Amino acid sequence: MSNIAIAEQSLKPSKQEGKQEGKQEERLAEDFPLAQLREAFPALRQKNEQGAAIVYFDSAASALKPREVIDALADFYATDYANVHRSAHWLAERSTERYEGAREAVRQHLGAAKACEIVFTRNATEAINLVANCWGDLLARDCRRKPALAISMMEHHSNLVPWQRLAARCDSELLVIPINDAGEIDSEAYENLLKTNDVALVALAHVSNVLGTKNPIAELVATAHRHDTLVLVDGSQAVPHAPVDVRALDADFYVFTGHKVFAPSGIGVLYGKEQLLEAMPPWQYGGEMVERVSFRQASWNSLPWKFEAGTPPIAQAVGLDAALKFVRRIGIEAIEKHEQRLGEGMQQRLQGIEGLTLLGVARARAPIFSFALDGLNAFDLATLLDKQGFCCRAGFHCAEPLVRHYGLSGCLRVALALYNSEQECEAFVEALAKARTMLA
Ligand code: ALA
Repeated sequence: MSNIAIAEQSLKPSKQEGKQEGKQEERLAEDFPLAQLREAFPALRQKNEQGAAIVYFDSAASALKPREVIDALADFYATDYANVHRSAHWLAERSTERYEGAREAVRQHLGAAKACEIVFTRNATEAINLVANCWGDLLARDCRRKPALAISMMEHHSNLVPWQRLAARCDSELLVIPINDAGEIDSEAYENLLKTNDVALVALAHVSNVLGTKNPIAELVATAHRHDTLVLVDGSQAVPHAPVDVRALDADFYVFTGHKVFAPSGIGVLYGKEQLLEAMPPWQYGGEMVERVSFRQASWNSLPWKFEAGTPPIAQAVGLDAALKFVRRIGIEAIEKHEQRLGEGMQQRLQGIEGLTLLGVARARAPIFSFALDGLNAFDLATLLDKQGFCCRAGFHCAEPLVRHYGLSGCLRVALALYNSEQECEAFVEALAKARTMLA
């Protein structure tokens, strides 16, 4: 029996347990099969040059890969791999089935109505650029209206710069929704901004990659829709940590990247409501995105292939399918609970450190913590922590305006994932104290 099969068994409550909900929750927390799960990640067996065991706290940048994702990639290349949707042979058929099977897995994972609403891209950045370009073409056609675009103050550069460019293209404005002291979107200011401006689209992070704030997306979408504003949600930091249902959220566009949810790099997802994707022109031109081609003109393939020009990331999609299976087998709710407990402990520990400023203390959050310590240089701290085995990120975290809003030119980030433990969090605080003494 594989480790993950063991994990699955131990996460299933008995009927008796199901009747005692409070107790069941406690037991579930105790029973999270952390040791077995950690075994599934070969990278966690490593030590650094100093001989310190790896503690991986950089999962918001990219998550480690479980053995079954690594194996799924190798097996696919060894057996079913060929180009998709093109060739008239059995191998191509098998490869196409695997690729389209991955699309169906993503559809199910996001709760989308139809597989044609799932477009594969290289990453979340490309998915956002696709919308800014193609939906942006529709907007730019009506430039006399000059509608504004809006983003929140906590957006990653990938959910900021494409909208900056589109606003410039339409000679309109990019408005910024403020956040409160806790690092949450100011809902009153948000509603006011939508009331007093003609906003065509608002782009929001589901979870901030710096603050960890989990935004109330369903509410924010409902508010936007009351003002005829579309919403694009960047779910890159949400999909690895919590269940997502795009229909319940009613998001018009929802994007995420595979590599943060244990899949290989090079695969991203754009979900879009069918009628919106239908109305949008393609953005990249070439093989497979066409229906008919003459030397004078071309017509476009149907959804979603209209947006997938050229050979797509075939193996990466198969890897994403394996990664989502892995997550579903553990159970995203179980992952969320484990991370919630871990995150609460980490937050308490960090807030107990004198001279430490935590960026964002939102009520709803994912286990991502950014902080400054006593004015010490975040890169120096990260370097000393690295020597003790801790993999963290320092800097602007691709959200320079947000970090500058806190008066900083960089901060240290610890981003936890399902494979992290209480012991690692405890050891981190000790290592931080040691690094601080060395820099003092
Ligand atoms: N978006 C990634 C991060 O937050 C790269 O680190």
